[in-house]
Amino acid sequence: MKIVFATGNKGKLREAAEILGPDFELVSPADIGITEDVEETGSTLKENSIMKARFIHERTGLNCFADDTGLEVDYLGGAPGVHSARYASEGHDFDANVRKLLSEMKNCPDDRRTARFRCVVTLIWNGEEHFFVGDMPGKIAKEKAGCGGFGYDPVFISDKYPEHTLAEMPVEYKNSVSHRGQSLRAMAEWLKKENGK
Ligand code: IMP
Repeated sequence: MKIVFATGNKGKLREAAEILGPDFELVSPADIGITEDVEETGSTLKENSIMKARFIHERTGLNCFADDTGLEVDYLGGAPGVHSARYASEGHDFDANVRKLLSEMKNCPDDRRTARFRCVVTLIWNGEEHFFVGDMPGKIAKEKAGCGGFGYDPVFISDKYPEHTLAEMPVEYKNSVSHRGQSLRAMAEWLKKENGK
């Protein structure tokens, strides 16, 4: 099944390819000549996810999906949440975002470091919109560890793998428990049913 994943994030593309497997041929916006970025001006993950998917669908008419993800940290009252991509600055700078997060949490006690990733996927299939969600509970590490993954992975410890940050584990381990793994597996099941597979 051929489908556009409306993202310019290579980490997300790698993960989605691993999660969806060989039944899906993933195409990136760059593959079809779209290099503009969507401004994420929504006030919820769902709004941003819809915006990203519609941006591709309106320009190409192709079947596509997008995800929007937020990291909610309890000690910070749910921040950075929907602002996770631009937490430190407008520039989608992963390192700066992680530095700001660790600095905001420097006085946080060990037992109050709980957090979760939440993800909303919007699929536009034959012109209709469908939504799939996932979340991953865990906590924020005191310092960065690991060089795999992307974004906040070096400081996020999933409850399911409490010994390591997401950046310290193979992508298959992260995908087996992650917010994106859950939502994309649900989307894949829906698509397979819909297409009689
Ligand atoms: P967006 O969904 O691309 O807007 O992502 C929001 C922010 O969360 C960006 O800074 C991403 O790098 C980060 N992010 C999204 N998904 C993940 C993930 O699976 N692990 C770590 N960071 C992530």
